Amino acid sequence: MQAKVGNDIGTAAQLLDLGEVVAIPTETVYGLAANALLPEAVEKIFAIKNRPFSNPLILHFADVQAMLPYIHKSPIELDSLIQRFWPGPLTILFEKSSLVPEITNAGLPRVAVRVPDHQLTLELLKSLDYPLAAPSANPSGYISPTSAHHVLSQLGDKINYILDGGSCRAGLESTIVGLENNRLIVYRLGSVSVEDLSHHFNGIVEIQNTALNNKPLSPGMLPYHYAPRTPLKLAATMEEHLSTVNPTHIGVITYSWQTDEIPEEHVVVFDIQEDMLYAAHLIYEILFMMDQFDLDLILVQAFPEKDLGRTINDRLRRASERRITQI
Ligand code: TXA
Ligand code: MG
Repeated sequence: MQAKVGNDIGTAAQLLDLGEVVAIPTETVYGLAANALLPEAVEKIFAIKNRPFSNPLILHFADVQAMLPYIHKSPIELDSLIQRFWPGPLTILFEKSSLVPEITNAGLPRVAVRVPDHQLTLELLKSLDYPLAAPSANPSGYISPTSAHHVLSQLGDKINYILDGGSCRAGLESTIVGLENNRLIVYRLGSVSVEDLSHHFNGIVEIQNTALNNKPLSPGMLPYHYAPRTPLKLAATMEEHLSTVNPTHIGVITYSWQTDEIPEEHVVVFDIQEDMLYAAHLIYEILFMMDQFDLDLILVQAFPEKDLGRTINDRLRRASERRITQI
């Protein structure tokens, strides 16, 4: 099997109606989608990704109205976030209704839902009479794809169709939140920054994400996710690593290091003061590209621990923690 790449919503809908899996674009990363209500279809997602059934999936909807039957109720405290961030890269955990099959959310009491902000996918969702379950369209443990090309090279032999919506605008997965005792808990840092959440949530916002936390809510939140195959290090300085690896075999991502010793084609320099959104948009694309260079090490300068820098650091930290092989 070799996936076709195209932008025909009709083809995607037809395959999904048949219980097949289709890769779809979102504003965060590409998703591997199937009819969330059809256990045989959802099962295929887990098989293709090599993902344990204990790791629940996010349900995607065209709008809030379409979502309501699948949750118990939407607490009023979350209204401001829904209004501000949907459609957009915010995933919310709600008590689920009986319409959500066990396999889709690992039999947990809560279900993760979001309304993605991508024209093609919103049109697709509107044309369907079921929500789409969609994890990121990568083999478990590898970098999430931000273009149709990434999906094709990672999973092209396992699916029939990739709906090509161009390069993902945000470039990092959605932020996952839920209410616990009136606090807003951030379970996964993502494309909506904690600063933005705090600004729009009337109450305490608490981060439980902690990249290296080994007691996650679900296996998907374990470290050693989001990793390229090349070893990666998140570093404060470059010098400490230059003595251990041949400089011609290092890739460097930085905003202020002097990189004279490193071949130019292996260096990416961001001006993060200018635009952190841009760094977030490109980071997976760059890791994906550097992974093709057959390097011994990718060295990344830690971003300032605020706004989207917090999310980027989180992903890089997980990618660098290769000791832990769980997914
Ligand atoms: O941006 C995104 O969220 C992308 C696009 C495709 O929408 N999706 C995505 O899905 O990143 P995935 O499956 O790669 O990551 C979803 C994370 C997993 O870590 C999973 O464990 C967690 O969300 N999750 C899903 N449902 C959950 C639930 N009911 N309770 C706790 N965690 C949940
Ligand atoms: Mg994922």
